[in-house]
Amino acid sequence: MQEAIILVGGKGTRLRPLTNHTPKPLLNVAGSSFIRHQIAKLIDAGVEHVVFATSYLAGLFEEEFQDFSQDLRISYAVEKVPLGTGGAIRNAGRLLRGAPDEPVLILNGDILSGVDLRGILAAHRGRDADVTLHLTRVADPRAFGLVPTDDDGRVLSFLEKPKTAAECVTDQINAGCYVFRRSVLDAIPGDREVSVEQETFPRLVAAGALVYGHTTADYWRDLGTPLAFVHGSADLVTGRARSPLVPPPAEALIHPTARIDPSARVLGGSCVGPHAVIGPDVVIDRAIIGARVTVESGARVHESVADHDSVIGARSVLREAVVGCHAEVGADNELPAQLRLSCGIRIPAQGVRVSGTAVACPTVH
Ligand code: GDD
Ligand code: MG
Repeated sequence: MQEAIILVGGKGTRLRPLTNHTPKPLLNVAGSSFIRHQIAKLIDAGVEHVVFATSYLAGLFEEEFQDFSQDLRISYAVEKVPLGTGGAIRNAGRLLRGAPDEPVLILNGDILSGVDLRGILAAHRGRDADVTLHLTRVADPRAFGLVPTDDDGRVLSFLEKPKTAAECVTDQINAGCYVFRRSVLDAIPGDREVSVEQETFPRLVAAGALVYGHTTADYWRDLGTPLAFVHGSADLVTGRARSPLVPPPAEALIHPTARIDPSARVLGGSCVGPHAVIGPDVVIDRAIIGARVTVESGARVHESVADHDSVIGARSVLREAVVGCHAEVGADNELPAQLRLSCGIRIPAQGVRVSGTAVACPTVH
C-alpha cells in the first residue's frame, strides 16, 4: 500500500490575513481547497493512505474531509505544539502501516507541481535510496533550500535559505516533495522540534546516507506568498498547471451563483466565488474573488485576492493586494501594491491614493 504524509501545520504567515481563520492548504484555489488538488494528485499516483501532519487550526482539516468518500484512507497526526518539518514527519510516521523498507511520499502542503509522483517513486526504488528529493531550478533560489548534486544525482549538501550571494552555489532547489525509506524517517528524533531542511538532510548527507535528487523541469510553484498564490490559481484555471479537479482551460472560473454584469471583464485565469456580484465595467485580472464579494462599477482588481464578504468600491484600483474577509474598500481608492487589509477594516471613499490625481480637500480652511 503506497502511503503519503502531507505537512500542513504551518501558520501561513506570509498569506495573512487570509490565513487568520483558514490554514494555507485549505484556502480556495481554482474552485477547491488547495489540499484537495494535492489529494487528487496523490490518488492519481496510487496513494491509498495519507497522513496529515497538522498543528495550526488542526480541527479544520478533519472538518474539510469529514464527508470525503473517495477510496483513500486519511489519518491525522496533530501536534499540540509545532514540531518543525522534521518533527512533523516523525510524528506522522507513527500512523503509517508499511514495513521499515517501504517508501513513503512526503509533500509540503503548499506546492503546486506538475511532477509525476510515480516517476519519483520509481527513481527512488531504482536506486534503493534512503531519501529521494524532488528538485527544480528557479531564477532566484534565496527563498528555498539549495541542493547541489553530483553527476549521478547524489545530493552533495543541503543549504536552507542562503543568506549571502556566496552561499547561492546552485539554482537547484528543494521542491518540497520527498520519498523517505520508512526506517529513515522513524529515526528522526521524536522528543523535540526538528527542521528536516536544517538538520535532518544535512545530517543524512554527512553520514553518507543514499540521498538522491530527482530534478525535473515540470511546472512548479510554492503558493506561500500572495502573488504566488494568485498566479498559481490563475495557472490552474488557464491550464498552465493541471489538477484533476479543474475543468478544461478557460479565461476565468466563475461560480454559477455569481452575478457578473455583461460589461465586466473577468480574465487571466481569475476565479469568482459563490454569490459574488461584479458590477458594470469592472476588470478582474488574474485575481481571486471570494464568496459573496461585491465589486462595484468601474473597479479594477489585478493580481489580488478579495476574501469572502469583502466589498471593493466603485472605480477603486487594486494591484497585488490582499483584502481580508468582511473588509470594505470605499469608492475611488487606489491601493498601493502589496497592501494587505485586515479582516473587517473599512477604507472610506477616496481614502487612499498613490498616483498624483488630486482629490479635493473636504475640510474647510
Ligand atoms: N505539521 C507541521 N508542523 N507542518 C509544518 C511545520 C510544523 O511545525 N512547519 C512548517 N510546516 C509545513 C507548512 O505548512 C508547509 O506545508 C511546509 O511545512 C513547508 O513550510 P513553509 O513555511 O511553506 O516553508 P518554505 O516554503 O519557507 O520552505 C520549504 O519549502 C521550499 C519549497 O517551496 C522548505 O522545504 C525549502 O527547503 C523548500 O525549498
Ligand atoms: Mg512554502
